[in-house]
Amino acid sequence: MQEVRVLAPATVSNVVCGFDCLGFALEKPFDEMTVRRISERTVRIVNRDYFNLPTDPEKNVAGVVLLALLAKINADFGFEVEVTKHIKPGSGIGSSSASSCGAAVAANRLLGDRFSKLELVDFAMEGEQLASGEKHADNVAPCIYGGFTLVRSTDPLDIVSLDFPPLFATVIHPQIEIKTSEARAILPKQVSLKTAVRQWGHLGSLVAGLAQGDYNLISRSMEDFIVEPVRKSLIPKFDEVKLESLAAGALGGGISGSGPSMFFLSKMQATAERVELAVRSVYERSDCEFNTYVSEIVSSGVKFV
Ligand code: HSE
Repeated sequence: MQEVRVLAPATVSNVVCGFDCLGFALEKPFDEMTVRRISERTVRIVNRDYFNLPTDPEKNVAGVVLLALLAKINADFGFEVEVTKHIKPGSGIGSSSASSCGAAVAANRLLGDRFSKLELVDFAMEGEQLASGEKHADNVAPCIYGGFTLVRSTDPLDIVSLDFPPLFATVIHPQIEIKTSEARAILPKQVSLKTAVRQWGHLGSLVAGLAQGDYNLISRSMEDFIVEPVRKSLIPKFDEVKLESLAAGALGGGISGSGPSMFFLSKMQATAERVELAVRSVYERSDCEFNTYVSEIVSSGVKFV
């Protein structure tokens, strides 16, 4: 096998009350990536999009992941990776994670699938470290496993794939950039015990609601007492968008990852499309450009094509 082509999906992390723990994979948008084995002991990055991302492998998320893989196996060869990104960097829907995971999964196939999904998440976290300054796994885990995943621990790494009922996500992406590192820097370093108890009650019941297919419980659980109150000020019209999406029938939603994208969950595709119209109408009344997506939450992560 000379080369492997994959599609690496966008992901929504945090899912309102599960900061750094919970995430899910979307069907679209996705990045296209091709990884080839080359005889030189190096990593070559070829960008086929207009985002101008670094081609120095040490400064590129896919590059650092591939370097880590090669170092782990003491390889006497290298990889070339060709990337066509459709997920805009800094959008809050796991752009860096898609590049990291696509590279890890494709390279692993070229290596005869010698690493497990859990090990691939560990490699992909190298990319998250480069992008955000921290090794969080709440985007890379669903990108590789698909569906909803819970990160019980990053050290040692422990990922739980969750059961979930049919769900559709409406995503609105205002065309502003929020750097994850900056959105992390403004978060409180400490929270009160009372707030922590409220938050973990909601996270536990969201996971239970997903497992039981209890849409009402899912809806009641989607509240964030720690992160959203601080980060929402970075996102134009956040409160209005949330209000309108709930009025249009969404179960709940909030900031996707560190923003600026916002996401809302619906039980049916028709509701998710109604929510899309509602959030579009809020942003159409502003100066801010935006994109929207409606996508089913799917149980596949990175796909081979
Ligand atoms: N959980 C991370 C954060 C995701 O919210 O900072 C970043 O994409």
